[in-house]
Amino acid sequence: MKKLIAANWKMFKTWNDGVQTARELMVATRQNLPADREVLLIPPFTLLKGVGEVFLGEENYSLGAQNFYPAGEGAYTGEISPVQLKDLGCSYALAGHSERRHILGESDEFVGEKVQFGLEKGLNIILCVGEQIEERKKGQVEEVLHRQLAKGLAGVEKDIQPHRLAIAYEPVWAIGTGEVAGPEEIVQAHTFIRNDLAQYVNFYEEIRILYGGSVKPDNAGQILALDNVDGVLVGGASLKAESFSQIVLAE
Ligand code: PGA
Repeated sequence: MKKLIAANWKMFKTWNDGVQTARELMVATRQNLPADREVLLIPPFTLLKGVGEVFLGEENYSLGAQNFYPAGEGAYTGEISPVQLKDLGCSYALAGHSERRHILGESDEFVGEKVQFGLEKGLNIILCVGEQIEERKKGQVEEVLHRQLAKGLAGVEKDIQPHRLAIAYEPVWAIGTGEVAGPEEIVQAHTFIRNDLAQYVNFYEEIRILYGGSVKPDNAGQILALDNVDGVLVGGASLKAESFSQIVLAE
């Protein structure tokens, strides 16, 4: 499967800037997108329509959402449903990003409900997992990853097709800090995730495992070449078309 190069814009950008960045990104990458790459842009909800106008219909470019509520519709003030996201052309959504776990208080169980519901409603889901620095210092990386995977994937059908699900390994201490995990740390975590996935899904060898956490133009090529790294999830460096296009094209 192609490597997935995903941009998470978080709570950044208003309309003009967002649409302009998406257009610039398209101009900078469309002609020379490597055959093994797929680009995913995950803007804030307010820009799904604007970015969608640039991205939708372009082969190897897709649109994703940062979050959703696990219900089709209903009295959930302030929330958004997978059905509404699909209506705007989203094919992917994140679940369990560390900022939602640690700032918004989402539990492993709630993340699992979202994964199951989002898949049922036809979104491809990127389940984000990753340890905090204290957990790494205590030697609990594998324990944390196992728990987040087991609970996050509890409701997923065993024979799910591999393109429907991806895992993003994002060590919390590397997100937005400029401190990227080292190659050995990345390979160890990704290998653990690959093996752990075998318990929950049949096609575990084909599920994409992305790395996220301070990915930049100057480290993207090296990270993408590591074993069991099938893509990257990029925050800060995805906000400018110039830096994100370098990551998309990185060798
Ligand atoms: P970062 O964010 O690239 O700014 O570290 C990654 C993420 O939160 O997905």
